[in-house]
Amino acid sequence: MNTYTEKSKLRVQLNNIQSMSKSIGLVPTMGNLHAGHIELIKAAKAKTDYVVCTIFVNPLQFGAHEDLDAYPRTLDSDIQKLTAEGCDCLFAPSVIEIYGSDLKDQTFVRVPRLSEIFCGRSRPGHFDGVATIVIKLFNIVRPDVAFFGLKDYQQFLIIKKLIIDLALDIEITGVEIQRDDSGLALSSRNNYLNTEQKISAALLYQCLLDTAEEIQHGDQKFVELEQAAIDRLAHAGVRPDYYSICNAEDLQPASKLDRKIVILVAADVGPSRLIDNVRFEL
Ligand code: PAJ
Repeated sequence: MNTYTEKSKLRVQLNNIQSMSKSIGLVPTMGNLHAGHIELIKAAKAKTDYVVCTIFVNPLQFGAHEDLDAYPRTLDSDIQKLTAEGCDCLFAPSVIEIYGSDLKDQTFVRVPRLSEIFCGRSRPGHFDGVATIVIKLFNIVRPDVAFFGLKDYQQFLIIKKLIIDLALDIEITGVEIQRDDSGLALSSRNNYLNTEQKISAALLYQCLLDTAEEIQHGDQKFVELEQAAIDRLAHAGVRPDYYSICNAEDLQPASKLDRKIVILVAADVGPSRLIDNVRFEL
């Protein structure tokens, strides 16, 4: 695997690849790779000729009281996993390489409305940081196709909107959520959970499935369904931030006429903020 920390050296390699008319797939990550990330690499390998994974713990998307310093950095084992998967290229730059030394004066990108709801309300500025790093990585790598996980569904929609609004010539592919045997969506933050907390965390997916089933059976009392799930989670020691039945395209509260539905949840379990969702069509 070709590994770079400097954008100029990465570009030399990518110019070679592009001169051979090979397509480039981009998989942006913050490292500490698990089977969810690896699924993105697999999807990228299936669809493009040359797969670039990026590992960059992006300070711009962490709030002042969030876990930037504690975020797990496991580059050696990440490199082993990517190599085993046949990933072609890793770009793992420093903060200085990406932002220079004036992080606080950075030009940034904001996708309005979608960035301000749900996780954006609880984590002000988070999605501005995400949109800004993603567009920088797009400009550095110039991929044909970019791959994002549907676990971060709000993030996925924000990047989709960014691509449309800024007329970027990039295809975006969403990759299905990877889960452990209990149904818990894989996340770096699961590592902080003890056994008991993991059992509570698995209830998130169970609630999503149960609510989805009720809606599919014709229940349209969305507000009551949301409240029932919030109560059930709270009863199990999970602290929900939101549990919302939405239109899957714009994340507005679902109406009875909507056909594409997503149910979004974010909750604190022990020390971890976890997110999950299910999507379905009526
Ligand atoms: P990170 O949390 O490392 O996730 C990188 C990618 O892996 C994202 O597209 C995310 O949706 C996907 N992913 C994580 N867990 C997954 C799972 N269980 N199943 C499927 N996909 C999963 O998301 C970020 O990093 C950052 O915000 C980033 C986009 C890299 C910008 O800094």
